[in-house]
Order: sequence, then structure tokens, then C-alpha cells
Amino acid sequence: MGDKILVLDAGTTSTRAMLIAPDGALLAVAQKELTQHYPAPGRVEHDPAEIWARTLACAREIAGDAMIGSIAAIGITNQRETVVAWDRATGEPLARAIVWQDRRTADLCRQMKDAGHEPEIQARTGLVLDPYFSATKMRWLLDHEGPVRAAHQRGTLAFGTVESWLTFKLSGGEHVSDASNASRTLLLPLDAMQFDGGLCDFFGVPEKTLPRVVDTMGELAICAPQWLGAAVPICGLVGDQQSATIGQGCLRSGDTKATYGTGAFVLTNMGDVVPRSEHRLLGTVLCQTGGMRTYAVEGSVFVAGSLVQWLRDTLGIISSAAETEALARSISDSGGVTIVPALTGLGAPHWQPEARGLIAGLSFASGRAQIARAALEAMAHQTHELAEAFSADGAPWSRLRIDGGMSANDWMAQDLADILDLEVERPDFVETTALGAAICAARGAGLYASIEDAAEAMRGSTRTFSPDMDGAQREFRLANWRRALGAV
Ligand code: G3P
Repeated sequence: MGDKILVLDAGTTSTRAMLIAPDGALLAVAQKELTQHYPAPGRVEHDPAEIWARTLACAREIAGDAMIGSIAAIGITNQRETVVAWDRATGEPLARAIVWQDRRTADLCRQMKDAGHEPEIQARTGLVLDPYFSATKMRWLLDHEGPVRAAHQRGTLAFGTVESWLTFKLSGGEHVSDASNASRTLLLPLDAMQFDGGLCDFFGVPEKTLPRVVDTMGELAICAPQWLGAAVPICGLVGDQQSATIGQGCLRSGDTKATYGTGAFVLTNMGDVVPRSEHRLLGTVLCQTGGMRTYAVEGSVFVAGSLVQWLRDTLGIISSAAETEALARSISDSGGVTIVPALTGLGAPHWQPEARGLIAGLSFASGRAQIARAALEAMAHQTHELAEAFSADGAPWSRLRIDGGMSANDWMAQDLADILDLEVERPDFVETTALGAAICAARGAGLYASIEDAAEAMRGSTRTFSPDMDGAQREFRLANWRRALGAV
């Protein structure tokens, strides 16, 4: 048997396959962009057939016939909450996937909230009534997509998140979802092993269309030999933010990471305590093994790297994301410009799906450097709000481990340390999402005796950024931020 792990990382903007050695070294990577469909304002869709075809193509690129014998297991990590509807009889998708960023069910969520249902839903699932989560997207597909409804009438409708869809395709029919992904649907009580009939009735999602909830690691399914040339066990299934938490080695209660990708997601490990936030944070499953769960508190911010992408692709004021670092360094402050990046509503701790973005403090002295710097500063401001909410919830951070594409920006990493007044630690190998799935799959395949042993063997070195800003300057920045936020 081989000892390498094939990781499939099906993210929001691209899908990738990576070959990872038992010491965590990245041996090969293949990546393909995903087409983003924006059929109307607030709507974001993906083509499930494209997710499958491009993920498989990436896997084949690095795990061809010569390599396959060296692979011990597959680990899958994925954009969470995004909903796929397919026909179990044909294995074909029935509609476009509704992506986690999609806001089309905001009215439905608002009605449920106004009717007073949120406290009970949050107490049971750890989540709030926001269009971000899967249940109302499933309900929308049933209400609006004829082929989805017809499959339901035939009894062949299958719903799932992206890891569930890929596992179904790879295994030729296993309909499973791991607990970390299932805990993002609004249909899984945090202390229950399977989806809940009462919650399914409440959201109008038929229970029999849902997958079976399984562990995050272990032998969870088998990839059929037709795809990669040999049968390979799928030994890790984990939502991408939980995966990054594991990849950052946040395995003890209190350990915290922040990933700056499309959005920014902060998770604090809470051990086996079911988290109950009083400050608009989320309770979520971090991982599950042998039916035993580890939980996390999460702060989800919807816009991070996508703001820089917008500066590049829509405004055209930068030509690459990396340019923001030099622009930020070229001036001593943003000249009073503050950006509230609510381009797709505000997530934690506000949960305002209708909020929209704002650039405040513009003057004739404001140019691309001020706007680029304000965009980076917004990351620290949003993270600082989460830090306050985590503290108020009794889960203060003693240091913050960061990763994700944007974390490569040294200026931003230092600004985070300055505004949080906290040490910020960044691994040299920033692919922590893939590493987390590799750690889960390596443990699940029995290459290591525990997840701690796997993380110890597979994680590399880190760099620390220490705070270096005086209190008055920090307070000035935060006061500007609060003023801008008040105008959203
Ligand atoms: O909850 C959404 C999150 O899983 C998306 O992650 O890395 O695809 O932006 P990413």
C-alpha cells in the first residue's frame, strides 16, 4: 500500500487536486477555475457537472496510472453550505448549485426570524437564520426548479453539499455527508448524529432526500477503479474551514485560526463542549471520529479576498492582488478612507443579508493607494469585531494562526497583529486547508495512531508577527471603522 494522500479541494473559485507526502510535503498540484454564474443581483450559482468534471480532471492529472499505487487514501475538502441537487438513479445534476454566497432566500429567512424562530434554531443547530446556510437553498430548489420537484415525486431526489456530491460520483452511489459539512445545513442538531425530522419539516426539506451523516475520518467510501485506475479509499471528508483549523494544528480547546480566502473564517476549537454563542457567532462541528465530536465556535465574514478581486477585476485599480501590499506601504495611512466590505451583506457578528458595501472618507486626496490600503485594513477591522465577540462569548484568543491566499500579504499580517494587539502566526506552507484534509485522511487510513500524531508529523514551520502599534492609533482606526459601519 502507498503512503501518499490525494487531496481534492473543491473551493468556491477553483477546484484542485494535491498529492501530499506523509511528512506533509506538497508533491504535486493541479488546479482549474470554476465558472461563477451570477444570474441576478445576489444570486451565485455553480454548475455541479463542472465541479465534478474539473475535480476529476485535476485528480487524474496528478494521480495517473504511474502514481496510483503510491496513494493510500483520498481526502476531500470543500466550499461549505453550497447545495447540489441530483438524481440518484442517473447520477446527473437537476439544477445549478446554489452557492454559499447566494442571498436569494433572504426574505424567507427574514419571515422565519420575524416569526420568532431564531432562538430555538440557534440553540439546536448553532446557526442563525441567514441565507448563507443550506436548508433554505434546498427549499428554494424544491419550490422553483421543476426537475428537482419531479425527481422528488419519483423518489430519486438527492441533496448534498459539495463533498457529498463528489463522494457520490467517485463511489458510484454512496450518499453520505460528513458531520462538519452537515453541521452547516440548519438540519443537524449539534448534539445529534443524524439530520433531524423536525428541522427538516420546519424548513420543508424531505428527510429522505438527505445523505447519511458520517465521520470526518475513517474509511468513509471507496473511489471506484474506473476514475483513477484503481480502487482508493476515501478516508477524509471535511468542510474547508474545519480542514484549515486542523491543518493549523488547532487541536486543543482555545486554539484559533483565521483563513483569509474568498471570505474570512475564524474558528476556535471548543473541545467536546457543544458551543452556545450569546454574541452572534456560530456553533459548528469541527470534526467527528468514531461518532465522537470536537466542536468549534465560528465567525464567518463573507468578503475578504473577494474585495481585492473586485478592486482588480471590476474597478481595475490594481492589476494583481499582490500589488496591494506595495500600495499600502507607499503611504503612512489611508487618509481617512474606510471600506466596509458588505458587498454580499454582512455575516458575523451582524447577520444583515441586505447590507451593502461602503467606501467612506473620500476626498480629492484619495487615490488607488488609499483605497487599496483601506481594503486591506478592512480585514483587520472585521477580524477585530470577531475577536470582541469571541471574548464576550468566553473564548478569547491568546494568539491567532492565519492562512489563506491573502495571508501571504506581509503588510496585512502585521496590520492584523497591530489592530488585534495579538501575536499572529503564519505557517510557511499556507495550504492549510489541503493539509487538514490530508491529516484527516492519513489518520482515517491508519497511517497515524491519532490526529495529533498526524498533525505533528505533517505540519511545518511558522513565522510570527508581533503587535507594534500604539493604542491611540489603534483606537483612531477602530473609531473610523465603527462610524463607517454605522452608515451601512
Ligand atoms: O463557508 C464558505 C466557505 O467554506 C468557503 O470557503 O475557501 O471556498 O472561500 P472558500
